[in-house]
Amino acid sequence: MKVEGGVALVTGANRGIGRGFVEALLARGIARVYATARRLDSLDAVVALDRVRVSPVGLDVTDARRLRQVASEYGDVSLLINNAGMTAYGRLIGAPSLDGARQEMETNFWGPLQLCRAFAPVLAANGGGAIINVLSIGAMACFPQVGSYCASKFAAAAMTQGVRLELHGQGTRVLGVYPGAVESDMSAATPGPKITALEHGHACLVALERGEDNLYPDFSAQAKHEDWLRDPAAFERNLLSRL
Ligand SMILES: NC(=O)c1ccc[n+]([C@@H]2O[C@H](COP(=O)([O-])OP(=O)(O)OC[C@H]3O[C@@H](n4cnc5c(N)ncnc54)[C@H](OP(=O)(O)O)[C@@H]3O)[C@@H](O)[C@H]2O)c1
Repeated sequence: MKVEGGVALVTGANRGIGRGFVEALLARGIARVYATARRLDSLDAVVALDRVRVSPVGLDVTDARRLRQVASEYGDVSLLINNAGMTAYGRLIGAPSLDGARQEMETNFWGPLQLCRAFAPVLAANGGGAIINVLSIGAMACFPQVGSYCASKFAAAAMTQGVRLELHGQGTRVLGVYPGAVESDMSAATPGPKITALEHGHACLVALERGEDNLYPDFSAQAKHEDWLRDPAAFERNLLSRL
């Protein structure tokens, strides 16, 4: 999979990690980026990065009808980046209701799955192409203070693995990314050190071009992943201290 000369669609491209993807794609010679966001006017600064190669597209990933429409309109996409996500910062038992958990599943699981389904034939028609699903280190272990967010990311990680297997035959590469601490609004309260969203974007595109299946892109994610590999049970016991 080569980024240079390709056509990418990035969800949640107006800020944070999504904007970092757009910047990294441009730096690596992408021919066109469809930068999508819920509100078109929130994309002005991203479009200003390169008015020729960046096209703004309105897309709420929880709107199934709209995402099918987008897949039928942008038939030249060779790289789908499922980045948009949200957290309600809620516990599984302690949250006052399931509203936040349901919204997390809609945004972090159902939206990306529906986009994979809608774009699978598009990617096949364009030679196979690739998908990057932005998951979380919370898809490796359930951090209890954001338990419902982690559940949605675990589901998205299983989906990523299944989609990789199902699309193998059509030559579509699927990269699962497990960030831990990347500079953005969502991670404002996460302790550092953090990498920038641009560094994150470059790391993902390098991993994609190397043909990797999974990426732990930053210091925090790598350290947690190593701890977890060493002793998953001890890792889980340590999570008790977070409550
Ligand atoms: N930053 C980290 O350290 C970190 C760690 C682990 C995982 N992640 C994951 O990385 C991804 C990007 O997060 P971020 O850190 O860049 O957070 P962020 O700064 O809060 O940005 C979230 C992005 O998702 C968009 N979004 C939310 N709900 C949406 C919906 N229904 N439809 C379309 N767009 C929607 C937001 O759009 P609006 O501007 O319209 O709200 C925004 O562009 C997420 O999947 C997140 O779970 C981040």
